[in-house]
Amino acid sequence: MKKEQTGNGRRDSFYITTPIYYTNDNLHIGHTYTTVAADAIARFRRLQGLDTFFLTGTDEHGQKVQRRAEASGKDPKAFVDAIVVRIKDLWAKLGISYDDFIRTTDPTHERVVQQIFEKILAKGDIYKAEYEGWYCTGCEAFFTETQYKDLGGRCPDHDTPFERLREESYFFRLGKYADRLLRHIETHPDFIQPVSRRNEIVSFIKQGLEDLCVSRTTFSWGIPIPSDPKHVIYVWFDALSNYITAIGYLTDEEKFRRYWPADVHLIGKEITRFHCIIWPIILMALDLPLPKKVFGHGWLQLESGKMSKSRGNVVDPLVLIDKYGVDAVRYYLLREVPFGADGYYTEDALVLRTNVDLANDLGNLLSRTTAMINQAFGGRIPEPGPVEAIDRELPDLAKIVLDEVQKAIDDLEISTALAALWKLIDRSNKYIDETSPWALARDEKTRGRAGTVLYNLAETLRILGVALTPFLLEAPREIWKQLGLDGDVTKSTWADAVEWGKLPPGTNVRRGAPLFPRIDTKTEAGKEEPKPEVPAAPAAPALISIDEFRKLDLRVARVLTAERVAGADKLLRLEIQVGEEKRQIVAGIAKHYAPEELAGKQIVVVANLQPAKIRGLESNGMLLAASTEDGTQLGLVAPERPIPPGSRVK
Ligand code: ME8
Ligand code: MG
Repeated sequence: MKKEQTGNGRRDSFYITTPIYYTNDNLHIGHTYTTVAADAIARFRRLQGLDTFFLTGTDEHGQKVQRRAEASGKDPKAFVDAIVVRIKDLWAKLGISYDDFIRTTDPTHERVVQQIFEKILAKGDIYKAEYEGWYCTGCEAFFTETQYKDLGGRCPDHDTPFERLREESYFFRLGKYADRLLRHIETHPDFIQPVSRRNEIVSFIKQGLEDLCVSRTTFSWGIPIPSDPKHVIYVWFDALSNYITAIGYLTDEEKFRRYWPADVHLIGKEITRFHCIIWPIILMALDLPLPKKVFGHGWLQLESGKMSKSRGNVVDPLVLIDKYGVDAVRYYLLREVPFGADGYYTEDALVLRTNVDLANDLGNLLSRTTAMINQAFGGRIPEPGPVEAIDRELPDLAKIVLDEVQKAIDDLEISTALAALWKLIDRSNKYIDETSPWALARDEKTRGRAGTVLYNLAETLRILGVALTPFLLEAPREIWKQLGLDGDVTKSTWADAVEWGKLPPGTNVRRGAPLFPRIDTKTEAGKEEPKPEVPAAPAAPALISIDEFRKLDLRVARVLTAERVAGADKLLRLEIQVGEEKRQIVAGIAKHYAPEELAGKQIVVVANLQPAKIRGLESNGMLLAASTEDGTQLGLVAPERPIPPGSRVK
């Protein structure tokens, strides 16, 4: 948070960003993770009264978008326009309260990126040279020779071969700033979070930073360099700059001064290097202060691996919102996985969270409390009466919990913040059981005490209504309404939550429908796993004829010997017997099989594959193995019972 220095009475500011999303396809539940988290934090800061600016948007340039647009017969701008409409619609359904939605095709952004580039060029930190290297279009990034070899010439994320690219390019002197960046990271422990990501970045920088290629001539869908327009500016250079072009860098000095440096860039862990190396160095070259924090959260994975569009194993958030409601989805995303760690998405867990935490704990607390106030006090919130020791517990706990929530949000531990609020909810439900307010109300002598208990419960619900506004959208309004409160709960402040006793006795509660209807687990959970969306890009594999299949010469083979390949931790060299013939093959299975396990095993190989050289070793055939999408599990294909080596598989 930035303290206002001019002392003109304006509020302190808070600036938070999400990554800008690629516009090459629809978003999946993994993408909503970053944005819902950023939204919760932004809403929390607004609740605290900070002048908050929450930025999100779309990353629209690059070769991948150009190719996708061409493939769908559209002009790139029309192609991305259509996707942006869908992204905005998703954010509207999720209640994402962004203050600005930047598109990298916005004319102001494009113009300022050009100015940024020319500024750094004029300063000499960008220079022109010839470049040749391995490139992955999916990543929009070059790979080193070593990476190329280690990965066997294919991008592991996109499963496509690297392309050889040779071009005249502009380079950005990252190396020049490496020491300064290291010093900054060391002296600003909050800059890169969580700590594991910081360590990764520090050791990466210590290996030495090569200058970065920051222009392309192989495609045109990008921002041209004004002084050399056959080059377009590298997409990451363009994309990262959004964080300052959106808040007035070089166009609105006052706004820029107000919000920069950002308080937090929230990102997924796979883009940490871009945000913790390239971005700070761009800022250093521009003589701008660095963001206060870059937080790289973990991945939401499916049991079949990280959700990704290129793998086609994605869950559509719109389907979940329709099915379970926006609060269930938001709550699940914010609560289930400690922010920072990787986690698994399952629909069962979402249903469980909804039924237990939302319907049972929170929903029942509201309906029990309002029902008892109806019965015992004709629907009017009673005046508190005599107080016993136990009656002080809720006000005391509320205070502790609200402190914990603030601290947790300061540390970006969103699930901890929710867990703290649920401690208060649990305590409240137990308080009902321990005090039996309905029984107290029946006896004139204890009726005053019943008033105390029910007031405490209703007041706790009021506090929860306010404190939940950053996280849930509908429930806080409904709590407010059922407590009989007028006005808009989202206009409340954090101070309203902290101040015990603001609920006016005499207010008429309005019983309503359950806050969260229970999801019938017999018909929903477990029954249907969310069906992975059909991947949009590669069409279903074309059918082949039996003759085409017969071209494959698949044979049973026996492993004679197996050994590791020096310097390649994924590879094993196998000597195999196929009929009378002995052959050598090199296989990428070392992560899954120890050489000792393999000798004597029967396997299946493609026997008529052209020989290949792998790490200088000739490989004469290829063994068959089944593996999960993410490559963490792999099993060799073998005949179900022993069969003489050389037998045909058909
Ligand atoms: O990276 N779990 O855009 P993007 C958690 N345009 N987070 C996930 C996820 C998953 N399964 N899948 C995606 C880009 N994300 C660039 C950013 S910023 C200047 C440019 C997160 O659309 C991902 O980690 O691929 C990232 O934070 C965000 O979604 C956007 O990803
Ligand atoms: Mg990505």
